[in-house]
Amino acid sequence: LIRADKARKNKEAISIGYLGNIVNLWEKIEQSDFKVDLGSDQTSLHNPYGGGYYPAGLTYEESNEMIAGNPEKFKEYVHLSLQRQVNAINKVAAKGMYFWDYGNAFLLEASRAGADVMQNGKFKYPSYVEDIMGPLYFDYGFGPFRWVCTSGNPKDLAQTDKIAANVLEDMLKSAPAEIKQQLQDNLKWIREAEQNKLVVGSQARILYADGEARIRIANEFNKAIANGQISAPIVLGRDHHDVSGTDSPFRETANIYDGSKFTADMAVQTFIGNAMRGATWVSLHNGGGVGWGEVINGGFGLVIDGSPDAEKRLKKMLFWDVNNGIARRSWARNSGAISTLQRTMQSEPKLQVTVPYIADDDLISSVIE
Ligand SMILES: NC(=O)c1ccc[n+]([C@@H]2O[C@H](COP(=O)([O-])OP(=O)(O)OC[C@H]3O[C@@H](n4cnc5c(N)ncnc54)[C@H](O)[C@@H]3O)[C@@H](O)[C@H]2O)c1
Repeated sequence: LIRADKARKNKEAISIGYLGNIVNLWEKIEQSDFKVDLGSDQTSLHNPYGGGYYPAGLTYEESNEMIAGNPEKFKEYVHLSLQRQVNAINKVAAKGMYFWDYGNAFLLEASRAGADVMQNGKFKYPSYVEDIMGPLYFDYGFGPFRWVCTSGNPKDLAQTDKIAANVLEDMLKSAPAEIKQQLQDNLKWIREAEQNKLVVGSQARILYADGEARIRIANEFNKAIANGQISAPIVLGRDHHDVSGTDSPFRETANIYDGSKFTADMAVQTFIGNAMRGATWVSLHNGGGVGWGEVINGGFGLVIDGSPDAEKRLKKMLFWDVNNGIARRSWARNSGAISTLQRTMQSEPKLQVTVPYIADDDLISSVIE
């Protein structure tokens, strides 16, 4: 804490690792005058009783022995530890810290452990999807679009980066104000991606693109494969942490507030729709980050080889893969999704989705009274 204070005073950007139990650190912070601006938790709480979370009061070895020898007792330790952790977090938050759920089921598991994280039937703190990713990205169709160059040749990957940058630059010329910043961020990312040297195996890239960008970029890749600028087919895909492919009330769909976030229809329809529109492979699976039984994911892979058939498939499939989720988010009355859907229906008249009629809540209340 002394070192962190020094860094704050000197305006240094540093990262410090604490070797110990996080509960002890939260309690130490809570008892001191140390000011925390932002806080979250990144233990593997999607698996609270099988080694994802090590409770305070036990050493690492003691925990491992108890997980195997006395799992019921271990569960009690986890619950007590989460209660202590939340008590400390609540006190630090009361002093001005902004706390949020990182997507590891912290709030869910803390609530199950009887910790003080509930207020009026809801979690006291937001998930990062509710405050950041949902309204800024998913509702507009931005998500982690991915591609892999099957040649394994870095030159092909460099070529795809250039193609993606050109598409984003072109889109920026006429993009509506509400998505300009996202496009600018993505352009900066893709322009600098090669020099950041993040590729460790497959020649693959990930780019937070919206529906229009995904289709346009993929189509340009397909043309480049056809004319030999790119030497071999490309596999398109995406992460499950996206607009449409995942129903996860504690993460990806956390900012869908119409009650439907506890259903799994979006992932299922995305997966089936992708299969029908030409995906090379699809998957429907469980787990994905927040733990078994808490989430359904629908995924795909689409191989493009420069052929007219690949062009047809990518246009149909990527369109569905993104807009299916935007439709759902729009029915939930998320403003970014409503405007994106209206924009998409203008550019593609064949798309017809019912748009919600937003009632004035005060007017309804006064009429009922
Ligand atoms: N927001 C997202 O999109 C996103 C992305 C990736 C992972 N996740 C989730 O975040 C969590 C962490 O992911 P990861 O890949 O870093 O997992 P990990 O298992 O590699 O790392 C978790 C670490 O927490 C440590 N830990 C456990 N209990 C502790 C305690 N009481 N005090 C201090 N340290 C403790 C473990 O020793 C481990 O090193 C997972 O639940 C994962 O599902 C979310």
